Amino acid sequence: MTRSLYEVGMAPPLGHVPERMYASVIRPDRFGPPAEAFRTETVPVPEVPPGHVLVYVMAAGINFNNVWAALGQPVDVIAQRRRLGLTDDHHIGGSDGAGIVWAVGESVRTVAVGDHVIMSACRWDESADDIRLGADPMTSSTQRVWGYEDNFGAFAQFTVVADYQCIPKPAGLTWEEAAAFLLTAATAYRQLTDWPPNTVQPADPVLIWGGAGGLGSMAIQIVRALGGIPVAVVSSEEKAGYCRKLGALTLNRTEFSHWGRPPDAADAEGFDAWLAGVRAFGRRYWEVLGSRRAPRVVLEHPGQDTLPTSLYLCDTAGMVVICGATTGFQADVDLRFLWMRQKRLQGSHFANVRQCRAVVHLAATGRLDPCLSLVETFEHIGYVHQLLYENRQPPGNMAVLIGAPETGLTSAAPGSIGGSASDTR
Ligand SMILES: NC(=O)c1ccc[n+]([C@@H]2O[C@H](COP(=O)([O-])OP(=O)(O)OC[C@H]3O[C@@H](n4cnc5c(N)ncnc54)[C@H](OP(=O)(O)O)[C@@H]3O)[C@@H](O)[C@H]2O)c1
Repeated sequence: MTRSLYEVGMAPPLGHVPERMYASVIRPDRFGPPAEAFRTETVPVPEVPPGHVLVYVMAAGINFNNVWAALGQPVDVIAQRRRLGLTDDHHIGGSDGAGIVWAVGESVRTVAVGDHVIMSACRWDESADDIRLGADPMTSSTQRVWGYEDNFGAFAQFTVVADYQCIPKPAGLTWEEAAAFLLTAATAYRQLTDWPPNTVQPADPVLIWGGAGGLGSMAIQIVRALGGIPVAVVSSEEKAGYCRKLGALTLNRTEFSHWGRPPDAADAEGFDAWLAGVRAFGRRYWEVLGSRRAPRVVLEHPGQDTLPTSLYLCDTAGMVVICGATTGFQADVDLRFLWMRQKRLQGSHFANVRQCRAVVHLAATGRLDPCLSLVETFEHIGYVHQLLYENRQPPGNMAVLIGAPETGLTSAAPGSIGGSASDTR
C-alpha cells in the first residue's frame, strides 16, 4: 500500500492553517536531473489573496513541466519570477492535484471550506484588458501555469489556487485518479477540439505521438469519444498493447531511423534518404489504418525528432497541433509541403476552464479513464520525474499521495483529517 504524509501525523484539523508545511522543493543550487533536484523541506504556508483558496492537497499528478523546472532549462523558473519582482528563492512544482478546500480568500463565492476539488493548471488576471475584450483566457498575456511558471504548486501539503481553478471532484474517482489526468487530458482535448475547421470529426484518422504517454493515453480516448480513429505511435510492444486496449491502432517508431532534423535540401543524397524513411513510415501508417488516408490531425509533442514527419504525413488542409517539445524545440519545417498542401501548424497550450470541465465530465461519466499507472509516496516526487526524464515511466499518468492516508480513497470526512495544529495561524 502506498502511504502519504498523513502517516507522519502532519495534517491539521479542517480549516486550521499552520504556519509551516512540508513541500518538495527545487532550488537553483540543485538544478539538474530530477532525482537530485527535488528535496523535502518545511516552508511557510502561502498567504491566500482575494479570489483565491488554500487547498489541502490529497494527491498530486506528475507532468513533464517539472522535469524542465528541475533541470532549470530551457527556462529557470525561479529567475523568471525574480525578473517579475517576486522574491521566492525556491520552486514548489505540481500542476495537477486534488484536495480539500481549507481556507478561502476575500470575495470567493464559488467554493467553500470542505469542498473536494480537482485543480486546473492555469491562471490569469480576470481583469486583464485582453480578457475583458473577450479573449480566451489561455491567450491572455497574464496567463501562467500554476506549479510551473507560478510557485506553490501541488507538491506540498497546501497550495494556493484561484477559485476558478477548482472543479468539483467526481465522487467516484479516488484522490490519486482525480489528481493524475486533468493537465494531460485537457491539453489533448483543446488540441483536438479548439482549432476549427481542424477539429476531429467522425471517421477522421488522427496520428498520436507517444500514444502510451500521459497526453497520448488521454488523446486516444478523446479521439474515440469524438468518433475519430486514433493511430498511436509507440516505442515498444508493451506500450502498443496498452494503446490497443484503449482502442487505438498502433505503429512502432523504433522500426524506423529517420528521426531528428532532416539533412539540408542542398544535400540531395542525404535528403532523399531521409524522405525514404518518412515515406516508409507513411506506408506503415496506411497499412495499420487499412486505407490510404492521411491523418486529418496530428497530435504533436515530441517536437524536434518527429515534427518534419508529422508535417509530411498530415493530410492536405489538415493540421499538426503541437503543445510541447520533449526531444528538442528546434524543429525543421519544409515550407514546400506546408503551403502547397495548405497544411496548418498550430500551437496549443493547456486549456481554458470550459475545456477542463469538459474532460472532468468525461471522467465522471466513465468515458475517460484517468489511466493511472503508478502511485508513489511524497518522498518519491524526484524519482517519478526522473522516470519521465529518462522515458522509463509506465504507460499513462502518474500521481503521488500527499494528504491522502492511502490509495483507493474517494473521499475523506473532514474530521478524519489530522490531529492538532500547534502553530495555527
Ligand atoms: N503545453 C501544454 O500545456 C502541455 C501539456 C501537457 C504536456 N505537454 C508536453 O508534452 C510532452 C509530453 O507530455 P506527456 O505528459 O505525454 O509525457 P509522457 O507521459 O512522458 O509521454 C511522452 C511520450 O513521448 C514519447 N517519446 C519520447 N521520446 C520520443 C521520441 N524521440 N520520438 C517520439 N516519441 C517520443 C514516448 O512514447 P514512446 O517512447 O512510446 O514513443 C512517451 O510516451 C512533454 O514535453 C510535455 O511538457 C505540454
